[in-house]
Amino acid sequence: MVRSREDGEMTSEEASSPPPIDNWNRLLDGRVAVVTGGAGGIGGAVSSLFAQHGAHVEFIDVDADAAHAKEAEIVAAGGSARAHIADVRDAAEVARVAADVLGAHPYVSVLVNNVGDYRPLVRFRESTPESWKEMYDINLFHIFAVTHAFLNPMIAGGGGSIVNIHSVEGMRGYPGEPVYGSMKAAAAAFTTDLAAGMGRHGIRVNGIGPDLTQTAQVDYIGTSVGSEHLWEAWAPVGRVGWPEDQARVALFLASDLSSFVTGHNVPVDGGTKAGGGWFWSPTANRFVNRPTGL
Ligand SMILES: NC(=O)c1ccc[n+]([C@@H]2O[C@H](COP(=O)([O-])OP(=O)(O)OC[C@H]3O[C@@H](n4cnc5c(N)ncnc54)[C@H](O)[C@@H]3O)[C@@H](O)[C@H]2O)c1
Repeated sequence: MVRSREDGEMTSEEASSPPPIDNWNRLLDGRVAVVTGGAGGIGGAVSSLFAQHGAHVEFIDVDADAAHAKEAEIVAAGGSARAHIADVRDAAEVARVAADVLGAHPYVSVLVNNVGDYRPLVRFRESTPESWKEMYDINLFHIFAVTHAFLNPMIAGGGGSIVNIHSVEGMRGYPGEPVYGSMKAAAAAFTTDLAAGMGRHGIRVNGIGPDLTQTAQVDYIGTSVGSEHLWEAWAPVGRVGWPEDQARVALFLASDLSSFVTGHNVPVDGGTKAGGGWFWSPTANRFVNRPTGL
């Protein structure tokens, strides 16, 4: 458990020990978690897994139908969740949701900033100030806005964990859309920078850089039909990723399993960042750095 200030000051021994883990199947028991984009895709898997691990999940999503369905699914499974229908690109909507959440709970212990999108994909040479702003709003602005809304209450509550889901494209050279890649890199830098200042307030901040994960936003399976044998070339682990692959890492970072980890950005990418530049060739039966046949 994150210790509440209401429980009294920590002894120096408590403050210098790893927090105890009472139940390894309920890693977030009793904690309030806020998840943005928590109705579907990676955020949806985070909401479900966190609720399964005992968190009360207050999630925000712009898709009302998906949000109500996710809330019903979690409650039917014995979990606790509440959907907030809001667009996190809108500062007033973020403030409204924050007031609603903090009106129901004095503080939150976990925040997952998950919303983001590469669409509409505008190549840099055709891009405009309007398209740059669009990338900023959907990938970066709300990370500042939502974090700002919950940080002080999190500190007042005795600390917590913030997980920013950005992209592996912010951690390597992304030729497709450098403005998108820049926003994701900024989210990763914000993660590290905030962590450096907030550790002394009991706040940990870490990031996840997904890649190759099957969601509504990126249909890797549908666009790979007939080429499935190439997964071993595309990803060192040899398969597509699933939202649950991301959610498990988010659980690690949100919970006391990672109590001595802060300021880091973890690629959850099946190894694409590590293996970048070298591809397994099923025909040559060896790794190649200059694949032919593209
Ligand atoms: N799937 C991947 O392989 C992949 C790769 C790199 C980065 N990412 C990043 O992971 C995160 C999640 O991606 P995903 O693939 O699950 O996306 P997704 O589009 O499948 O799901 C996003 C969820 O957020 C909600 N949402 C979208 N805009 C919103 C807004 N303005 N306000 C509130 N809710 C909003 C959607 O309704 C949906 O429930 C994003 O930041 C994305 O950039 C994903």
